[in-house]
Amino acid sequence: MTIRVVQWATGGVGRAAIECVLQHPDLELVGCWVHSADKSGRDVGELLGREPLGVTATDDAEAILALDADCVVYAPLMPNADEVAALLASGKNVVTPTGWVYPDPARSAALIEACTTGAATLHGTGIHPGGITERLPLLISGWVAGARFVRAEEFSDIRTYGAPDVVRDIMGFGLTPEQAMASPMASLLGAGFKQSLRMIIDAMGFGTDARTSTTEEVAVATAPIDSPIGTIEPGQVAARRYRWEATVDGEPVVSARVNWLMGEEGFDPDWTLGAEGERFEVEVVGDPTVTAVIKGLQPESIAAGLERNPGVVSTANHCVNAIPAVVAAEPGIRTYLDLPFFTGKAAPDLR
Ligand SMILES: NC(=O)c1ccc[n+]([C@@H]2O[C@H](COP(=O)([O-])OP(=O)(O)OC[C@H]3O[C@@H](n4cnc5c(N)ncnc54)[C@H](OP(=O)(O)O)[C@@H]3O)[C@@H](O)[C@H]2O)c1
Repeated sequence: MTIRVVQWATGGVGRAAIECVLQHPDLELVGCWVHSADKSGRDVGELLGREPLGVTATDDAEAILALDADCVVYAPLMPNADEVAALLASGKNVVTPTGWVYPDPARSAALIEACTTGAATLHGTGIHPGGITERLPLLISGWVAGARFVRAEEFSDIRTYGAPDVVRDIMGFGLTPEQAMASPMASLLGAGFKQSLRMIIDAMGFGTDARTSTTEEVAVATAPIDSPIGTIEPGQVAARRYRWEATVDGEPVVSARVNWLMGEEGFDPDWTLGAEGERFEVEVVGDPTVTAVIKGLQPESIAAGLERNPGVVSTANHCVNAIPAVVAAEPGIRTYLDLPFFTGKAAPDLR
């Protein structure tokens, strides 16, 4: 039985998700919601710069709710819990990179009720958070005894992320340091990463009284920087470091970190990506201590990243490859701790 999929929003994640659906043997694209009025009414293939797919994009949410579909890949700029609840209550499973990786059930009553109403499942995923932050460390932790510390860390050049709204509004580049430090977006970002910390704490048993904290730092440009949000002027925020950390009795036990730099140099303070350049790192300290460095999720060049950023594509793929497991799951909010192991699929010509 083919699983009928709807794509919600066609930004970088949404377009890559459609490409992944089209290559997946078990999935079929049956609908697409778009935010931009000028995309509405157009064939989805045309929006992707490929042959027509026979699926027309719409900006009418009611039309999507009425559609006969099994799953929605929900990837708008910002999540809207009411919108997600409506999709779930209409009987559609939802997979998303915008949150709900490991939500607190006590704060998710409306979504859980919507899952029950629609006999549907909500799954939050992605890469960071949603993959590298918790799923990969948990996999690696299976090779370690007596684990003492778990770290997931990103080192990225954000000049390659061609999503200006995300870079400006969610990541907070181009502001003054005062504006950046006062932005409510830190707590939005932190809410996602702290769910990943909690998943590791619970799965690995790091103690019921683990406390989480956020450390936020900014660096400013020392000279003008070309960026996806235009020129970042000297004195404006051009690099950001966040650290979300869990401690037990004052000892750090889980840490999720990002080092987002708009370039490789030219900051005050003079941060760099380090000699190893762009990468993701995962470390589980114990017996033995195991470290993984993940390459390939950052593009070869700025131009390549702006055209199609591999981290964004992997985020979309992680959503899409989860769909069969999510559709088969019991209704409710289901995380990696609930779903069975799932994989990507072989290329169509190699099946
Ligand atoms: N967890 C992870 O690892 C991870 C990684 C990457 C991204 N993300 C998240 O995934 C989401 C999508 O990221 P992206 O890179 O695809 O961003 P993007 O390229 O900026 O695309 C976002 C899309 O959202 C739609 N949109 C714009 N303004 C909107 C509004 N006011 N209300 C509703 N929709 C609006 C537009 O869709 P149309 O083009 O269809 O009009 C836009 O293309 C973001 O929330 C981002 O933070 C998560």
